[in-house]
Amino acid sequence: MEAAVKEAAADDAAEAAIRACVKRFYEKGGADSLLGPIFEKSISELEPHLDIVANFWSHALLGTTRYQGTPFGVHVNLPIEPQHFARWLALFTETAKETMPERLASAAVARAEHMTQCFQSGLFPFKDSQGRPSKAPA
Ligand code: HEM
Repeated sequence: MEAAVKEAAADDAAEAAIRACVKRFYEKGGADSLLGPIFEKSISELEPHLDIVANFWSHALLGTTRYQGTPFGVHVNLPIEPQHFARWLALFTETAKETMPERLASAAVARAEHMTQCFQSGLFPFKDSQGRPSKAPA
């Protein structure tokens, strides 16, 4: 097989793995007691949302230009609390390992860990009286 053809086939396989990961993540998230109610309330149409999130991962992992959004801003007005992040990341990590080849899964998990940290610093920049992340100063 020519190098360019091989590369295109590898990209197709990677896109399919990303799609499978996103689909499975939202199946599990929808059934999760902590995340399910947020997804249910805030995602009006699932299929277009899956497309957006798959485009995001394609951009993040494969360098495509299909995603042009700003993920942090989308989360600012969601009813998210600090404890949601640990569950989100645990579920994403598990799903990425199940659905993507090792190299892609570790890159995705590294990016998700980093974004989880950034989102939390942005959404909860203070500490409450018990030292927990908070939206307002103690
Ligand atoms: C507490 C954890 C999280 C919850 C409950 C959550 C929930 C949601 C919800 C409900 C939406 C749809 C919002 C809308 O369309 O108005 C969304 C969008 C999105 N989320 Fe999250 N999210 C979380 C963390 C993360 C993290 C850590 C990432 C990092 C990869 C991420 C990536 C995205 C992306 C890429 C979108 C689409 C953004 C866009 O529309 O441009 N989310 N999330």
